[in-house]
Amino acid sequence: SAVELGPYQHYMQKEIFEQPRAIASTLEGVTAIMPELFGDGAFKVFKQIDSVLILACGTSYYAGLTAKYWIESIAKIPVNVEIASEYRYRDSVPNPNSLVVTITQSGETADTLAALKHARALGMQHTLTICNVATSAMVRECALAYITRAGVEVGVASTKAFTTQLVALFLLTLALAQSKGRLSDEAEAAHLKAVRHLPAALQSVLALEPHIVAWAEAFARKENALFLGRGIHYPIALEGALKLKEITYIHAEAYAAGELKHGPLALVTEEMPVVTVAPNDTLIEKLKSNMQEVRARGGQLYVFADADSHIRSSDGVHVIRLPENYGVLSPILHVVPLQLLAYHTALARGTDVDKPRNLAKSVTVE
Ligand code: G6P
Repeated sequence: SAVELGPYQHYMQKEIFEQPRAIASTLEGVTAIMPELFGDGAFKVFKQIDSVLILACGTSYYAGLTAKYWIESIAKIPVNVEIASEYRYRDSVPNPNSLVVTITQSGETADTLAALKHARALGMQHTLTICNVATSAMVRECALAYITRAGVEVGVASTKAFTTQLVALFLLTLALAQSKGRLSDEAEAAHLKAVRHLPAALQSVLALEPHIVAWAEAFARKENALFLGRGIHYPIALEGALKLKEITYIHAEAYAAGELKHGPLALVTEEMPVVTVAPNDTLIEKLKSNMQEVRARGGQLYVFADADSHIRSSDGVHVIRLPENYGVLSPILHVVPLQLLAYHTALARGTDVDKPRNLAKSVTVE
């Protein structure tokens, strides 16, 4: 193969471990926040737009869902995130002042390209893509672009493309905020410092692998799993469940933890592992009560906490603690152990990790 595996058993594992470098490359040359990072004329466009419409499929769609939390809270611009295959076929209300953002690793996904063209046909001319392939159809089609530098991604289940998309979307958030006069110099400096720390932070998260291997043994025997998150970590729970489905064939569902009592709680028994993304943010106390609801029904909790979460392992509560509290960038770190959990569970089940059944790396036909 053109891309060598080196010491790794699978491309997916290699790509998970390449994330610190992929993020560093994606940030190369970014010494300050400026709209022009996204192309010539971006400032004029960013000043003009009054909303953002994100279009994507699969893992890229979950990157978009995450970005909604950042853009609305930091840049204060309303964001809609739509599944490309839905958007292209429904009657929607176009807003010509909206910035249309497509997110796509390959730049060739048929539904995402069609959704972009649909938006344009409806009169939306401000287009931007976050894409990993500079020569792709999507980059040619969009007026503005940020090229992620994840490098070639071979594993069908996306990993490093996702985290680099998140980095690019965070930069977009800051550039939008700046264009609207909502980013102080101090805030810019603090955010840039945090972003530059990501590769090192990721390295320490990857060091948790042995602990995750131990959990994977238990997961390999399950046929169902629930993933819970709240706020900006809800999309991360969705992505964790997708990873598990894609490569282990275990039925996994993710819920915003507050929705637990509106249905999925009925599924919780001693047999149900419940993966909880639980960094210490403003929702942690709410999340802890959701966790108690699970424990009260005998559910086994597998919790990814952080340095500040104050959640201890106890009967039926298994905790892996990430080394730091990563603040607003926490989703980029918290998805990594979920990738590793899916990977090691797939290894234990003996599935074809890099080429899961029925799936394609890039879906270029409808
Ligand atoms: C396929 C891949 C996914 C990917 C999705 C969107 O389903 O298996 O990993 O997230 O397409 O691909 P894109 O290239 O548009 O990001």
